[in-house]
Amino acid sequence: MENEIKPRNSFTGSIGFVLAAAGSAVGLGNIWRFPYLAAKDGGGLFLVVYLVLALTFGFTLLITEISIGRKTQESPLTAYKKINPHWGFLGVFSFVVPFIIYPYYCVIGGWVIKYMATYLAFQGQAAVQDGFFGGFITAQWQPIFFTILFALLCFVIVYKGVEQGIEKYSKVLMPILVIIVLFISIYALFIKYTDPETGITRTGLQGAAVYFIPDFKGLTVKKFLTVCLDAMGQLFYSLSIAMGIMVAYGSYMKKDVNLGKSVNQIEIFDTGIAMLAGLMIIPAVFAFSGKDGMSAGPGLMFVTLPKVFASLGKFGEFLGLIFFVMVLFAALTSAVSLLEAITSSMMDKFNWDRKKATLVMAGASAVVSIIVCLGYNVLYFELLFPTGSTGQVLDILDYASNNVLMPIVGILTCILIGWIAKPETVIDEVTINGEKFGRKTLYIIMLKFVAPILLFVILLTGVGII
Ligand code: PHE
Repeated sequence: MENEIKPRNSFTGSIGFVLAAAGSAVGLGNIWRFPYLAAKDGGGLFLVVYLVLALTFGFTLLITEISIGRKTQESPLTAYKKINPHWGFLGVFSFVVPFIIYPYYCVIGGWVIKYMATYLAFQGQAAVQDGFFGGFITAQWQPIFFTILFALLCFVIVYKGVEQGIEKYSKVLMPILVIIVLFISIYALFIKYTDPETGITRTGLQGAAVYFIPDFKGLTVKKFLTVCLDAMGQLFYSLSIAMGIMVAYGSYMKKDVNLGKSVNQIEIFDTGIAMLAGLMIIPAVFAFSGKDGMSAGPGLMFVTLPKVFASLGKFGEFLGLIFFVMVLFAALTSAVSLLEAITSSMMDKFNWDRKKATLVMAGASAVVSIIVCLGYNVLYFELLFPTGSTGQVLDILDYASNNVLMPIVGILTCILIGWIAKPETVIDEVTINGEKFGRKTLYIIMLKFVAPILLFVILLTGVGII
């Protein structure tokens, strides 16, 4: 590995890196999960807690992972071993996480393409029929078809490489995504709707107020802790941390790029899009169904929103289309980062070339994706999780990665860098060209003490102990 002459792929510069990393970070989590949690947790209060955590907890984990990648110039599977020879197992863990997530993320990506195609065919009205979503995901062939289509798009981008594939596509898709989100969120403020049954008129602006103004009514210590926990879990997932991704992308970052500044930009991008997504979804859903409609959870995107679009007539059909195009871009750039994390791991570990590594990993993942699709029909079962919810194959993979493995990878990374390799490992990398490491003391305290404890609490909640 070390003595090969092949130069490592790299992003051309800071913008390419930041857009690719932001492409990974901005995903389904920002678009439906963030607004849903914000609505559930008292609007503005959640936003404030989230911001504070982003600047402390999120910053610490993100800068650590990117630095590990850039320092070692290795992908996740081999990077940790280079930091400390006894810690190769952590590399295996952070390889397994994207390998588990990628197949089911492709399935959800397939659902998004299905919705986009529905709006493209002017069938938006069909999407609001009861049972449209359920009928689709339980059908035998369609979900497989759309999943493979989505997976093929990811394959092509990763196959083309870091600069010609990931960077090039991110530079086009991310700006379009921002424009669409801005457009819909401004439009949402002007929505006005009178409920035919109650005669009550609600506006998008009132919904925006619900979103931004903190709701302290009935706030107890316990409720506040729930808000903190929700914000922390969301942040962790939203920044694509503990998935091996930021290590892989960091390894493609040139040494002369200002790492600390890039981390700040990624955070601003990710948080900005999440906040705007809230502004896009909450006022619209509020105008149509009041506060109750906002607790729709995961169904929000595939069930509630199509109803909102349908009530906006012809223009709603158009909004539905550009909304799902935007979601597709968000999901695609995230899925690509997962595939890149596992592909580059194979390249570094076994010295495979990119073509072989992409083919093998995409192929293996496609098999798992098909099993995930079949989990809704042929292989249907209901498994009860320790957290009390039930689920199918997709939920099992989601549970194993998000609730169990990711917090563990996060905790072990903090222990490795905070206590064994020491925080200087990261600090030296960040300041390699004489840059300043802002928030250094905060970083060290967060890394050694606060972050691992918070992650441990996330783990306990995730497995249903708290
Ligand atoms: N950060 C993504 C989001 O917020 C999550 C994610 C990224 C999931 C990459 C998978 C792969 O949606």
